[in-house]
Amino acid sequence: MAPRTALFESTCSQPRLIVASCGLAILAAVAALSGCWCTPARAAQVDEALKLSKAAVVSVNLQASRAGAEMMRRGGNAVDAAVAAAFTLAVTYPAAGNLGGGGYLLYVPADPTAESFVIDFREVAPAAATREMFVTPASRTPHRRVGVPGTVRGLALAHARFGRLPWNVLVRPAIRLARDGCLLDDAVAGELNRVLATSDKRQFAELHATFARSDGRPWNAGDRLVQRDLAESLGRIAEHGADGFYTGKTAELIEAEMRRGDGLVTAADLAAYQAVVRVPLVGTYRDCEILAVPPSSSGGVTLIEMLNILENFDLRKQGRWSGETLHVMIEAMRRAYRDRACYLGDPASNEIPSKLTDKQYARELAATINQERATPSDSLAGGIELAPDSEQTTHFSVVDQDRNAVSLTYTLENSFGSRAVVRGGGFLLNDEMNDFNWLPGVTDRTGRIGTPPNEVAPGKRMLSSMCPIVVRRGGKTLLVTGSPGGRTIINTVLEMVVNVVDFDLDVRDAVDSPRLHHQWLPDQVRYEPLLAEEHPAALVQLRKLGHRLTDRPVKQGDAHTIWIDPTSGELSAAADRRISGSATGF
Ligand code: DON
Repeated sequence: MAPRTALFESTCSQPRLIVASCGLAILAAVAALSGCWCTPARAAQVDEALKLSKAAVVSVNLQASRAGAEMMRRGGNAVDAAVAAAFTLAVTYPAAGNLGGGGYLLYVPADPTAESFVIDFREVAPAAATREMFVTPASRTPHRRVGVPGTVRGLALAHARFGRLPWNVLVRPAIRLARDGCLLDDAVAGELNRVLATSDKRQFAELHATFARSDGRPWNAGDRLVQRDLAESLGRIAEHGADGFYTGKTAELIEAEMRRGDGLVTAADLAAYQAVVRVPLVGTYRDCEILAVPPSSSGGVTLIEMLNILENFDLRKQGRWSGETLHVMIEAMRRAYRDRACYLGDPASNEIPSKLTDKQYARELAATINQERATPSDSLAGGIELAPDSEQTTHFSVVDQDRNAVSLTYTLENSFGSRAVVRGGGFLLNDEMNDFNWLPGVTDRTGRIGTPPNEVAPGKRMLSSMCPIVVRRGGKTLLVTGSPGGRTIINTVLEMVVNVVDFDLDVRDAVDSPRLHHQWLPDQVRYEPLLAEEHPAALVQLRKLGHRLTDRPVKQGDAHTIWIDPTSGELSAAADRRISGSATGF
């Protein structure tokens, strides 16, 4: 039997080596210890990314990272690893990992002349959806918020194009974990306890039946969650491919669940759902290429617009944590998010202006930035209040032995989505219809966005902010990253790019560095506690310039990232420690 390759991992709390083939490997694994984001004080942590010579997966959950790495160890590629990790997250990280949601997969091969692609598996509005369906508050029920799920079609499409291992092999780890039980870490136990405590037992009976402990007590880290119905649903997917979800028993169960809650998704909607292969957006920033997802996500366009604006400033000279740098970053955010609200929506029903990613347009916007004063958001156009977002989506990054990369973000929208679990199917349905503009034509100063590009229409994709990216320099992949966080996603990714490209921050520092967020409206800057602790002078300066800073700092994003050393090719996998996180590989 061929010797097994050692698998290394570092997690928020429990770094270890699971299959050691030699003593050297143990030493390296011990060296790869990394600490936990439990306290904002970084000095107390052992700070290093996990260094790997061959392949890496970094995600919010140890069992998912392991499943992905295991596939590559068996000869699979980055797409195989991503599919296995995504199915595993649907079991082990139910707040955001999913079968009943949607997202984006960006594949970037090692060879810069070979084709990169995006799989857009965003949910769509059901055929019975109407433009005014959410105008009255009474209509905004959990089941009505459900869009037609895209995840399973998307993963199957990615596998059909580039997967190497058999499909059922990729689904198997998830089936095993659902059937035999998955171990809960602190983060997942806490999330389950929160959702159960805040969900009415009658309204969300199936959520309680699926996720509550049999003795009714709260979950603890180390407990085992068994999901038998989910194992069966996954079994049908393993056997029949995506059709095992979109047709047959699972489709019937989804339709029955929709009828129970007066939802709109039908078996016909499921059968008609298509994931879409798209050409990635390619922008440049300084000496790097940025590969990102095009609409139906706003992520790529908005990110590239912000980077194009920032190129007009010498950030390096200003310093990463100076008031000047933070000021121009906020002003870039303000302008690009304003364009996002005005122009972006499903490309199938909108003409997206090409100027948004144009360098000349960015120069014009940069020229409107006053270095001495914050621009009031109102002056850029009317006011907007944005529909509620939570901190639950999930991103993971994969690089394989050949240096092909997958950057994947997917979501149920809110934490645990609509909280509607399909009875008999064991999986949660999304509440992604939240991402449409609910009140057509109503864009008031404190109201929601009512612009036409993102109004509800049958079969339409709701606008997303998800932003998985790959950064290349000199034709070589340098960085694979992305994040959850609703509208903050794009700014988290922007900050990762600036940290690495402008300031050469080590990937561990780039991930740990404090983040801030401005989204045009409301006209305020959100920031992380660490920013106030480490750079109080910069915040004082921002206030002087006229920025309104929120008084309650909040954590932002969860950017599981891989950086590739351009000279040695060595991988540095840095799990974000804001929720939990695990890097695994060999
Ligand atoms: O697609 C989007 O942009 C949102 N539905 C993502 C939601 C999200 O990231 C929530 N939290 N992390």
